[in-house]
Amino acid sequence: RLIENVIGTIPIPIGVATNFKVNNRDVLIPMATEEPSVVAAASHAAKYTYESGGFKASYSGSYMRAQVQLTELKNPYFAMAKLYEKKRDILELCNQQDPTLVSLGGGATDIEMHVIGGEHEKVLVAHLIVNTLDAMGANAVNTMAEACAPFLEELTGGKVVLRILSNLADKRIVRASAIFEDPFNGDKDILKRFKYGYDLATKDPYRAATHNKGIMNGITSVVLATGNDTRAIEAGAHAYAAKNGHYQSLTKFEVSGNGDIYGMIELPLAVGLVGGATQSHPVAKAVTKILKVRNAEELAGVIASVGLAQNFAAIRALATDGIQKGHMKLHARNLAAMAGAKEHQIDQVIERATNEGKFTFDSIKKIVEKLNKKGVRENGR
Ligand code: MEV
Repeated sequence: RLIENVIGTIPIPIGVATNFKVNNRDVLIPMATEEPSVVAAASHAAKYTYESGGFKASYSGSYMRAQVQLTELKNPYFAMAKLYEKKRDILELCNQQDPTLVSLGGGATDIEMHVIGGEHEKVLVAHLIVNTLDAMGANAVNTMAEACAPFLEELTGGKVVLRILSNLADKRIVRASAIFEDPFNGDKDILKRFKYGYDLATKDPYRAATHNKGIMNGITSVVLATGNDTRAIEAGAHAYAAKNGHYQSLTKFEVSGNGDIYGMIELPLAVGLVGGATQSHPVAKAVTKILKVRNAEELAGVIASVGLAQNFAAIRALATDGIQKGHMKLHARNLAAMAGAKEHQIDQVIERATNEGKFTFDSIKKIVEKLNKKGVRENGR
């Protein structure tokens, strides 16, 4: 029932991240991802924060923006003034579209105007600011944008083209912070390497893209497991990462004199607990139960915390052994299957690879081949 022309489903494993305490609450975090080592890395990183109080998260509220683009205006600034004059009427018209949202305390609360110089002409973009409470809110705000468009045309004499939400949900910001207690056992050299690793993502977009990808490994996994819109979250996060005019890290790390690392993450998270697949998908419902989150604010806090932990884990690995050692070990089961190992042989292959200390595809393939040859000899086949 979720999409069209369905021929099947593609199951993605859900692993549970442990050691997380978010806003003083212990929480088990289901993560849906096909990538080995993501769940283990997040869990390991969270361990360093647990004794110092875990993660603390704050939320700006569930404010979404919808854009209504007004074209063919003779005087865009004059039109802008007109719309501000009629703000009350515009908001009322928006709120008539969603009495349930309004009755629960949400609804359109404000408007904002942007005059944008396009290639053809200056257009006026009216932003409707809507509190969508515990819903992601796309349907609510898109309905409002479409409903009020004719009224905005009437007020300004312009012609509306686009009427759609913005995924740059910069009024739906979550911040999470944590102290990673002495993660390098006082090793000043590794601490220095960690700083170098982090610093590059604040200045170099090539590194920042990978750094933020690592953050999204954690974030997208929880977003997917809860049936939320992964693409909306990715788009919002990356657009927000470029808000200062150049693309940079979504996290900040500060190093204290005693070896502790203070971390913080800030990004838009338009996630909900009602509407869309969040309620209609049985797995998403079960995941929400495991998370024990009561509202969008708590869910966003948990997701941001995972993002911060994931990023800490990645920089830590990069500053020390590199990521391949841990990653390939966890990826080895996959490689064994790819090399033709049968389900009952996989544990044996991993044991041998561990003894050899080699986890490349070639070395695993050799182990599988040896096992198969041995099997043929022993079975006389
Ligand atoms: C791999 O999926 C993610 C990392 O590349 C992130 C990073 O480099 O920070 C390890």
